[in-house]
Amino acid sequence: MAMIETENLTKEFGSTVALDGLTLTLEQGDMFGYIGPNGAGKSTTMKLLACLMRPNSGSARVCGLDCATESDAIRARIGYMPDFLGVYHDLKVEEYLHFFGAAYGLRRGKRRAIVNDVLELTDLTGKREAMVDSLSRGMQQRLGIARVLIHDPEVLLLDEPASGLDPRARIEMRSLLMELGRMGKTIMISSHILSELHEMCNTIGILETGQLVFSGSIEEAVRKSGLHGLIELEVDQADRATIVLQQSGLISSCQQVNGKLVITLTDESEADNQAGTTAIPKVLVGAGIGIRSIRPQSVNLEDVFLRLTTGAVN
Ligand SMILES: Nc1ncnc2c1ncn2[C@@H]1O[C@H](COP(=O)(O)OP(=O)(O)OP(=O)(O)O)[C@@H](O)[C@H]1O
Ligand SMILES: [Mg+2]
Repeated sequence: MAMIETENLTKEFGSTVALDGLTLTLEQGDMFGYIGPNGAGKSTTMKLLACLMRPNSGSARVCGLDCATESDAIRARIGYMPDFLGVYHDLKVEEYLHFFGAAYGLRRGKRRAIVNDVLELTDLTGKREAMVDSLSRGMQQRLGIARVLIHDPEVLLLDEPASGLDPRARIEMRSLLMELGRMGKTIMISSHILSELHEMCNTIGILETGQLVFSGSIEEAVRKSGLHGLIELEVDQADRATIVLQQSGLISSCQQVNGKLVITLTDESEADNQAGTTAIPKVLVGAGIGIRSIRPQSVNLEDVFLRLTTGAVN
């Protein structure tokens, strides 16, 4: 079931087209990584989906409800974490969560149990008595997550939840988000730390100057970027191996890099999953060439991102 669906969603600020005809679908349980340079329109998308502003044109549905006419019902079913947590002086962590729980209409008894649960889940139990503005940045980010979980939303819109976190806190944030994913929540998460999204997300979207230049699985993005099917080989006779492989029809290119061969499979041989693991070694061994190592060259999301975007900014 589609939990987020937008069609030609467009938002303008004066002469700036912050979001330009976004058409996107997230299925239930998707963990969607939203990528794009500063000013691409990621936060704008989330604000529109959270029904905090109206689009100039186009439409959006969240949990099957229309953002234009059913925003109250949508707000009850989503959790939106903005890029900056509002400042709340003079409130303890626990009071802060009770405050939001009450705002969502949770009764006191039930609220107490839920506050305990989200404190536990976000590892803030030890800080329940601390003042909100005394928390470190990482703890504040975790409190931001705790707050959006209070009413057990089905959809989470998380705007750079890991920004400003130290490496350990980022790893903890990632495992928290993966846990939420396992709970079946549909999650849209923006981040500039692409390796992090690579590990967590099943789908990604790449936005550039308000336009979606890609959406789909990471594998599709890798394929579209042309960075697929690269295999790294170490062989005894690199020059002869190059000739043998070129004659085999299995590869479309072969380069020698630091004494290793980096080959690109043809589309046909890549479609045949066996090509890399059996066909290539078979051809080489058949020609009497010893293989010292063979492995797929790993592709990272940063390379894919650079290939699929032009560097334009709003
Ligand atoms: N309230 C606003 N008033 C005027 N312009 C705005 C407003 N909000 C966003 N914009 C503009 O819309 C464009 C998209 O901004 P947005 O915040 O959605 O980008 P973003 O992808 O979240 O960027 P970042 O990675 O820096 O967070 C930018 O050009 C920004 O200046
Ligand atoms: Mg933003």
